[in-house]
Amino acid sequence: MEACFPAAKATRKAWDQIPRRPESIIPLLQSVQEEQGYLSEEGIAQVAAHAHSAASAVYGVATFYSQFRLRRPGLHTLRVCEGTACHVLGSEEVMETLKELLGVEVGETTPDGVFTLESVRCLGCCSLAPAVMVDNETHGRVGRKEIAAILKRYRKDAR
Ligand code: FES
Repeated sequence: MEACFPAAKATRKAWDQIPRRPESIIPLLQSVQEEQGYLSEEGIAQVAAHAHSAASAVYGVATFYSQFRLRRPGLHTLRVCEGTACHVLGSEEVMETLKELLGVEVGETTPDGVFTLESVRCLGCCSLAPAVMVDNETHGRVGRKEIAAILKRYRKDAR
């Protein structure tokens, strides 16, 4: 069963300051995602109720913007940069290696719930290309060997 949203007292208080109208959908969704890590069905329903909007309209906004996640993410999020600099220096191979080692496609989470694989356009550290970000930590000039070491390290931390 999904947890009732907003669960945190601070979030409930913040929602009291957000106008109850459709224009508030985006900040409300951001609030849900900040608290839950993704947009649960319950969270979307609560946003719809607060914004006096249909759940389908809220869902439409949630699917339009790439900042929103509709599935619970893994413990660690791997963001592979596929921007120009990283592409030139081998991001395609990095991505293929991660897909192979994790057994998932972009946007999916490993069955053990440890990793979610994502693709981004630029991490803002092009001089380190090809780059991968794990949660908030950047790893630069990654090749197959580095990827294996990164996965091993984060899996170990997840235990
Ligand atoms: S293109 Fe990859 S970090 Fe900028």
